[in-house]
Amino acid sequence: MGRAAGEVIAIYPGSFDPFTNGHLDLIERSTHLFDKLIVAVLRNEEKRPLFSVEERQAMLREVLAGYPNVEVDAFDGLLVDFAARKGASVILRGIRAISDYEYELQMALMNRRLHPEIETVFLLASEAYSFISSRLVKEVAALGGNVSGLVPAVVEQRLKRKFQGA
Ligand code: PNS
Repeated sequence: MGRAAGEVIAIYPGSFDPFTNGHLDLIERSTHLFDKLIVAVLRNEEKRPLFSVEERQAMLREVLAGYPNVEVDAFDGLLVDFAARKGASVILRGIRAISDYEYELQMALMNRRLHPEIETVFLLASEAYSFISSRLVKEVAALGGNVSGLVPAVVEQRLKRKFQGA
């Protein structure tokens, strides 16, 4: 799937296990920066995800249905190869705190080495969401804590179903 001339396609890759309001904020802010944004879920069973790739894609599609230039997809193998196949010239990543920086720097430099034409673009997380992580959301939900406001409603319901059978 290529791109039309002059069109800037960005890939927003991640585990999204689960998708949070921090991810959503980043997507909302970037929709007007790119012609098309592909939110791409990593297929990696080694990470022992809480939600299957299909469940994560279904939640993303539901939440992102109102954004005409946002697509949901999944990938395995190298991110840069997937990006190239999709005609993307940008990899989008969010940075919350300085602690994210080292990991992101390593990935961005490795990806640049593998595929110099693809640029990684970083957006800073909004203050209101900078403390949210999928890992903590899962932990809080698993222990019966309230995650409303941290994740979209559909994700909150699915977390409840997973942990409380509600
Ligand atoms: O949400 P995450 O778990 O921080 O996302 C990590 C992700 C999916 C961006 C990263 O693990 C990835 O790109 N994996 C694909 C394999 C790959 O390309 N590895 C080399 C990256 S330097």
